[in-house]
Amino acid sequence: MSTAATARVRAALARQPRTTLTILPTPLQEASRFRDALGGPGRCPRILIKRDDLTSLGLGGNKARKLEYLVADALSLGATTLITTGAVQSNHARMTAAAACVAGLRCVLVLTSTTERPAVAGNLLLDKLYGADIRLVPSIDPMLAVGKDEAVVARVVEEERAAGWTPYVIPVGGSSGVGVCGYLGGSAELVDQLADAGLAPSRLYYASGSRGTQAGLALGARLAEATYRVYGVAVSAGEPEKIERARRIGNEAAARLGLPERLDLSELFTDQGFIGEGYGIPTTAALEAIALLAKTEAILLDPCYTSKAMGALMAHVRSGEVEACETIVFLHTGGMPALFTESFVAGADPATR
Ligand SMILES: Cc1ncc(COP(=O)(O)O)c(C=O)c1O
Repeated sequence: MSTAATARVRAALARQPRTTLTILPTPLQEASRFRDALGGPGRCPRILIKRDDLTSLGLGGNKARKLEYLVADALSLGATTLITTGAVQSNHARMTAAAACVAGLRCVLVLTSTTERPAVAGNLLLDKLYGADIRLVPSIDPMLAVGKDEAVVARVVEEERAAGWTPYVIPVGGSSGVGVCGYLGGSAELVDQLADAGLAPSRLYYASGSRGTQAGLALGARLAEATYRVYGVAVSAGEPEKIERARRIGNEAAARLGLPERLDLSELFTDQGFIGEGYGIPTTAALEAIALLAKTEAILLDPCYTSKAMGALMAHVRSGEVEACETIVFLHTGGMPALFTESFVAGADPATR
């Protein structure tokens, strides 16, 4: 059932071009055995997991929602080729490759790698199965998710044009004013599910990278009149530029939709305390989160994003920062293909530590 606020968001989004890439809504699932393992109702808040890992496109994740609007924009401009960037195990790149298959488009991925010959596993294996053309770029900084890829992207754009194709460049993470629409819709969907279940959570935890999800969630929470505060957990460095990016693309989305609301910097908090040694390097807390959620709920977190966000939530439950009387939503943004990479398997197996 829609509230007046979510109906307004849905009506504004309905005027935007959108290509269906996934089956929605995703489930909102109570994690009671996980709660019991964290001390039960006397110590741990109620935890509901919004299962955006179950978006049905190409092994799922948060990018499906953004790509519905990005692919529609590309098609409306007559594009024939999607080009995007990311780390070699980028979920966004993998889902862009999957979206290209479904939309009948070509796809070129410019991927940053710390090694010349990365193992063809996890997301990279899927990129290849989805038929993407892959260009590798050396990594520059373990704290950041990307390398110096602009020149390579510019070259790919020229090559595509010279071959008679029409390229459409999707920024890293799909984080643009167009992509933000995905989590405006995701927020309306979640707020309606919560209203139907009679729930009023105090916080929504999620993993924050390139900030398109943040912009959509923060603006979406305001527009949909959510009860929760959006609590981002950073998986890579990059402040204050990333806050500015979130505000800029959030406000671009609002303008596209003809809505007067604008994001304020105070709505764009991201906790920087759980990054650990850098992007894609799992922390002890992240590994514990993966093991505990798997064992209690058979839900798989990923080693790069969601496990760091869940590690933050677990730390806050144990420290009392979130109280047992609260209700928390955890947005599961996907990413499990990275579980099946050599670097994760070696680090996660106690026998190899
Ligand atoms: C699994 C997963 N979670 C969270 C994120 C963060 O989303 P955003 O880049 O919109 O901040 C990503 C981005 O790649 C992701 O792959």
